[in-house]
Amino acid sequence: MSERVERQNDRSVAEEAGSPPPQLAARLQRGPLHVVVLSGAGLSAASGLATFRDADGHWARYRPQDLATPEAFATRPEVVWGWYAARFRAATAAAPNAGHLEIARWEDRFASLTVVTQNVDGLHQRAGSREPLELHGSLLRARCTRCGRYLAMAEAMTCPGTPPCCDCGGRLRPDVVWFGEALPYDALARADRAAAAADLFVVAGTSAEVYPAAGLIEVAARAGAFVVEINPRTTPLSPLANLRLAGSAAEELPRLGRWIAP
Ligand code: OAD
Repeated sequence: MSERVERQNDRSVAEEAGSPPPQLAARLQRGPLHVVVLSGAGLSAASGLATFRDADGHWARYRPQDLATPEAFATRPEVVWGWYAARFRAATAAAPNAGHLEIARWEDRFASLTVVTQNVDGLHQRAGSREPLELHGSLLRARCTRCGRYLAMAEAMTCPGTPPCCDCGGRLRPDVVWFGEALPYDALARADRAAAAADLFVVAGTSAEVYPAAGLIEVAARAGAFVVEINPRTTPLSPLANLRLAGSAAEELPRLGRWIAP
């Protein structure tokens, strides 16, 4: 890819003073941008929420197959419900950080902005993003496994039982996507279309290991988007990035914002 920044993190004096790297500047000059943001757990790390695959992440302590699969819920529903209930409490106690707020500031600043997230914590919405596409569902909702009714997790947690029951007698589950389950069709289709049409694709705080979400980066890169990856560590898809900002999303998103939406 010709525009790739070869020496990542080699920030020039001009960049530190506020000018974008030349490759990004050239893209910005082409006119109004279709922008897509893909976020992962690293975006919410600065809000105090654990990621999954970091050394202090969930999957360092637990096995995903014990907590995030339909089979786990079938065999140990109380353990699975309890884990998601604890994560719900942590998410509602947390506040959006400067990264979420910066993404929200980008609403109405571009020809189009599509926020796609793997996060289930609701922090994009609380920061002001209007309609993030939640590929992995939401901790803020519960769903009846029998009648399909949705209700707020806060309400579900006041009902007796672990997990509680719906009025129809069916068991409630968190409205998240577990390993082995399909992603919400409409959200994924819209994310896919946006990725294919993106001029600028910003990937923030994801290990890019979980598909189909990570595949959106490949779709965007193939279609010629300028890909910015924000992550202190490299990922399997870092080679697709035209620009890597190797720091915290809470700091690097506002830096990127000064370049693309001053
Ligand atoms: P991961 O935990 O896999 O990856 C988090 C990424 O964020 C890592 O690459 C970190 O290097 C990076 N990171 C950590 N702190 C950061 C910070 N302050 N700023 C920016 N980046 C930071 O989380 P996801 O990629 O979101 O699915 O994981 C994808 C899916 O796998 C999740 O939605 C979840 C998980 O299993 C399910 O539970 C179904």
